[in-house]
Amino acid sequence: MAELRFPDAFLWGAATAAYQIEGAWDEDGKGPSIWDVFTHTPGKIEGGDTGDVACDHYHRYREDVALMRSLGLKAYRFSISWPRVLPEGTGRVNEAGVDFYSRLVDELLAADIRPAATLYHWDLPLALHRRGGWPNPETAKWFADYAELCFRRLGDRVKMWITLNEPQVVAQAGHVLGIHAPGHRELGEGLQAAHTLLRAHGMAVPRLRSAAPDANIGITIDLAPVTPATDSEQDRQAAKRRSELNGWFLDPIFRGDYPTLMRQVRGDLLPEFTDEERRIVQAPIDFLGINNYTRAVIRYDPREAPLEAADVPAPGPVTEMGWEIHPPGMREILGWVNDRCSPPAIYVTENGAAFDDQPDASGRVEDEDRRIFLRDYLAQAHQAIQEGVPLRGYFVWSLLDNFEWALGFSKRFGIVRVDYRTQGRTIKRSGDWYRQVIAANSLDTEQ
Ligand code: FCB
Repeated sequence: MAELRFPDAFLWGAATAAYQIEGAWDEDGKGPSIWDVFTHTPGKIEGGDTGDVACDHYHRYREDVALMRSLGLKAYRFSISWPRVLPEGTGRVNEAGVDFYSRLVDELLAADIRPAATLYHWDLPLALHRRGGWPNPETAKWFADYAELCFRRLGDRVKMWITLNEPQVVAQAGHVLGIHAPGHRELGEGLQAAHTLLRAHGMAVPRLRSAAPDANIGITIDLAPVTPATDSEQDRQAAKRRSELNGWFLDPIFRGDYPTLMRQVRGDLLPEFTDEERRIVQAPIDFLGINNYTRAVIRYDPREAPLEAADVPAPGPVTEMGWEIHPPGMREILGWVNDRCSPPAIYVTENGAAFDDQPDASGRVEDEDRRIFLRDYLAQAHQAIQEGVPLRGYFVWSLLDNFEWALGFSKRFGIVRVDYRTQGRTIKRSGDWYRQVIAANSLDTEQ
C-alpha cells in the first residue's frame, strides 16, 4: 500500500521552544533564565552563539503564524518562557510577558490552529536557580504556582498543555553531564533534580483540573528504542538493562516508583517517594507526549558500571546530529510505551532531522533527505496506529531552523529555513510536502 490514510481527527502540527526561537531575551520586563547565563558564558556554546535574538519570533510571531497557516498546520506546540511571565520565578507577574503569549494564542486561534503549550522547555528563571533550582524540592511548588498562573490566563483558549519537555535531558544534560544549563556535573544532583521535576509535574496537573476543566494535560518524554548490537545473550541482557532507563520518568508517573533496576544499581543516591508524593506524581494525565529521533544500539561492556552496557556507533546512516536514521524505531517505541504505560492517548510531540541544507541559486532548499526522513518515520507511526497505539497527533521538530542548545545555530531542523542575517523565512521542500500530507490527511510512501 503506497497510500496511508490517517485517522480523521489526526492532529498535524509543528513544534518549537521559547528559548530556541523567541529572542528578546531581556525585553519588556523578562527576567533572565539559566540559558541566558549559560549562553553568555564563553566556551559553552558552539560558535559562541546565544538565543539573544534567535529567530526574533517575539517580534515576528504574526508572520510566523501566517506561515503556519499557509502550511495548513492544525496545531502548534510552543513553550512559555517562565521568566518572561514571572521574572523572579515566583510572585510578581510581568503583564507584558503574559500579554505576548495571549496575543500569540489569539493569532493562532484566528488562523484555526490549535495551540499546545509546554510550560517548561528548559529555561528556568535565574532567580530560582539561585534558590537551588531543580535539585531544591521547593522548586516543584513554585512550578505548580507558575503553571496555575498560565492555566488561569490562557486556559480559556489553550486546551492542550504539556508540563515538562524531556525532564530526563534536564536532569542528565544539565546536572550530570554539564553540557546544558546550569552546567553541573553530579550524579546525585541529577537524580534529585529528576525527583523534583516529577513532583512538579504531578503538582501542576490538578491545578489545571480546577482552572480549566475542559483542557487536557500531559508530559513529554524523550524515548529511543534500545536494540542489542548482536544476538548474543550478553548483548541482549545489556540492551534490556539499558532499556529500563526509558522508565526513569514513565514508571513513577504510571506505576508509582522508579524502575526496579534503578533502585538496585542507584539505591544509594535515588530519592524515595513518600506515599503522598507517589499519589501526586501518579496524577492521571490525558495524554503522553513522546519525542523520538533515533535509537540506541547497545553492547555488553563490563567496564561500563553499573549497567555494563555501552552505546555502539550508529550502524546506519546518520543526520547532522550524528543520530542514526532508523524509522522502524518509531513504531517500536510507540508499541513499547503503549504496552508499558497504556496512556489514554499519545502524541509524537517531536520528530525531525538536522541536515546541512544548502539553498540553491534561487534560495530554494530542496531538502529531500529531511522529506524522506519525515515520510518514513510517519509511515511507521501510521503502522503503530494500525496496531492499536492510540496515537492522536504528530508534531514535526521544527517549524523553523533555530538555536539548537549547545550546538548553537550550526544545526538546522526546520521545515522552514531562517536566514539569520535578514530573519527571512523560506518554506523548504519538506515544508511544501508536509502541507500536502496534512491537506490529504494521508501519506504516499512511494513519493
Ligand atoms: C530535543 C529538544 C528540542 C530540540 C530537539 C532537536 O531534545 O526537546 O528542543 O533541541 O531535541
